[in-house]
Amino acid sequence: MLLMLHTAPGLDRVLWREVRSLDPYATNEGARLVAGRNSALLIATEDPELMLRSRIAEDLYAVFAHTQQLELGRRGLEQLTMLARTAPGWDDALRLHAQITGGRGGRRTSTYRVISRAQGERGYKRTEAGQAVAAGLRARLGQKWRLVEDDAQVEVWLTLLGTEAIIAVRLTTREQRHRDKSANLPASLRPAVAAALVNLTDPAPDDLFLDPFCGTGTILIERALAGRYRLLIGSDRSKEALAAAEENIGTRHKPLELHDWDATQIPLEDGSVSAIATNPPFGEQIGSHEENRRLYPAFLSEAHRLLRPGGRLVVLTPEADLMKRHLAPPKWTTTGRFGLRVLGRPASIYSARRS
Ligand SMILES: C[S@@+](CC[C@H](N)C(=O)[O-])C[C@H]1O[C@@H](n2cnc3c(N)ncnc32)[C@H](O)[C@@H]1O
Repeated sequence: MLLMLHTAPGLDRVLWREVRSLDPYATNEGARLVAGRNSALLIATEDPELMLRSRIAEDLYAVFAHTQQLELGRRGLEQLTMLARTAPGWDDALRLHAQITGGRGGRRTSTYRVISRAQGERGYKRTEAGQAVAAGLRARLGQKWRLVEDDAQVEVWLTLLGTEAIIAVRLTTREQRHRDKSANLPASLRPAVAAALVNLTDPAPDDLFLDPFCGTGTILIERALAGRYRLLIGSDRSKEALAAAEENIGTRHKPLELHDWDATQIPLEDGSVSAIATNPPFGEQIGSHEENRRLYPAFLSEAHRLLRPGGRLVVLTPEADLMKRHLAPPKWTTTGRFGLRVLGRPASIYSARRS
């Protein structure tokens, strides 16, 4: 089955890494950037329910119609209606949707809505394309289904990217997607981004995992959910952030410690930490670029002291020059750099090992 997985813009390569670990037989059918807001990764898998375990995907869709050859002008609209009406993948997509969401609950009538998004010129409006898909579905589904504007049991998403059309059923319910923390501060990460940082540390059961700029605890929570560990430690200089982290983490994840430590002077022994994933101040909402010139080298030197040889470091930041200068051989072996947008701004995830 063809699935579309949404994540934060730029995270599709890390998402693909996670997908492969969930299903080694899945194939990558390419990523697209949709409206600057999402990276959409298409994958083919025999076991789509495995993807519900993804933490980097924010939404999951079963694709039931896909073409790269949508005609321009009105004929494109007819093509969309025909696809929605006849594409053979609809029954499988609906069956999967019922398995995941608990079905239509024995109701006699089911409701659906069509959401459309479009990039590029085609000679008709995005809303007309949505109506064309709705017309095809109406013809296909008959009396027992009702088209609604909101709160539908089944959401059909149409994505138009130039001459490509992807029509899919959304599989993730509001509850599944709702993974907001109760306490957020302005610089809190999206959980999917935190999950990507954690994935790049290659979590292992004996991990002593540290986030020395833990803020509201987003990364610690994702590490706790990523599998077994020996100990999780978060620290931050802000009392407000530590209180928020405590509220968000609650009593669910143990053993876990939170401390009011300075990230440049952590009272742990040399070589005692196996993995660090963190996002230090960007120097915009928190701190300044001037302060970062002192903070980053001091933090990276402390991270080097704390990590055992081969220990993994993953850092999210827009401070490209500082990272290039201070996360370098011979102390560090860099293993990857992933560009993404955080709160609309370009940043990168840097991954490295202590040499
Ligand atoms: C970008 S925020 C981290 C956000 C966090 N990942 C989250 O999702 O909530 C950076 C954090 O670093 C903390 N911080 C700044 N300087 C610090 C230092 N020298 N030592 C420890 N924490 C520091 C700030 O209080 C802030 O909470």
